[in-house]
Amino acid sequence: MSFLYRKLVRRLLFAMSPELAHNTAIRSAAVLQNFELANVITRFLSKAKDFPVAAAGLKFKNPVGLAAGFDKDCEAPKFLSRLGFGFLELGTVTLRPQNGNPKPRLFRVNEKKALINRMGFNNAGACQAARSLARLLPLDIPVGINIGKNADCPLADAPKNYLEAVRILYPYGDYFAINISSPNTLQLRELHQKEKLERLLDPLAEFGAGQKIKKTFFIKISPDLETTELESVVSTAVKRGFGLIAANTTVRREGLPPRWKNHEGGLSGKPLKTLADETLKKTAALAARRVPIMGVGGVSDGRSAVEKLRLGADLVQIYSGLIYEGPFLVKAILEYMDKAGYPCSHLK
Ligand SMILES: Cc1cc2nc3c(=O)[nH]c(=O)nc-3n(C[C@H](O)[C@H](O)[C@H](O)COP(=O)(O)O)c2cc1C
Repeated sequence: MSFLYRKLVRRLLFAMSPELAHNTAIRSAAVLQNFELANVITRFLSKAKDFPVAAAGLKFKNPVGLAAGFDKDCEAPKFLSRLGFGFLELGTVTLRPQNGNPKPRLFRVNEKKALINRMGFNNAGACQAARSLARLLPLDIPVGINIGKNADCPLADAPKNYLEAVRILYPYGDYFAINISSPNTLQLRELHQKEKLERLLDPLAEFGAGQKIKKTFFIKISPDLETTELESVVSTAVKRGFGLIAANTTVRREGLPPRWKNHEGGLSGKPLKTLADETLKKTAALAARRVPIMGVGGVSDGRSAVEKLRLGADLVQIYSGLIYEGPFLVKAILEYMDKAGYPCSHLK
């Protein structure tokens, strides 16, 4: 099936601009999910062995999830859930709708199986996401919701901006990812700084503690942090019982042809793998199994997914790999895990 994707579907999609191709795929998925036959066929084609995992107080049928940014407006979770994923992370959703950065803002670096994006949290806002999820949930897999800051919200008001969005979406998410690491919102990454992070996390922790149904918050971090910055973020997160997602896209351009060096935005896909893995390894060591960890960045096949589990991730996520390898990548990863004898071998 992956061969068919590369020879047929990918050719069609890659003939379009990256953003148009993405919107076409999401809109098609949103329509298809209304037809039971499409759901049955997709599920049948994506079927693979289960690898049950328990993390963040949730049960996952396997540890392979969809990364944030793919379904920003929570439009197609039902279809996406039929592709064999163990979980989905939807969003980034901001409190109020916003257009994001001017187009073009998404670029394929085909020769490196990478993407550069400077989307800037284009999304229809928390209320629209809630309406969509009220219609489409529940699914048979956990759903995380990734929350970001509105671009026009000053950094000092960020805690309120995030909290209001979480309040609206709390009934719909099984976990929440607090995104402080997109390189495409001015100053957002400053929220990694200890005091700013504490001011952001404390109201969220307090809100969470007051809810009847407890849900885990994760912080999605940048792969561009110095070790001391990472140490501070992990200790701030662990103290409050927040999990960690390592990592978002990078502003570095190592390994890319020179013409991409001054292209603004976050780099994802294969060239991100080494940096994301290093960040994951350090994060897992610092967290020392006290909070759940997700690994993301450069997963393109079974081997790269299992490497993240070996480095200490409880769960992994994929995005760019789906664009280059197609939706049957999840099944291919699970088949690899089966052959590799997961979970026993990954613990060695
Ligand atoms: C086009 C695009 C949009 C993205 N949007 C978001 C987003 O809205 N929120 C977020 O947390 N991460 C976003 N990401 C980052 C991914 O979730 C992921 O962390 C990153 O792409 C690394 O994984 P990958 O190498 O498998 O793509 C986006 C990535 C891409 C390529």
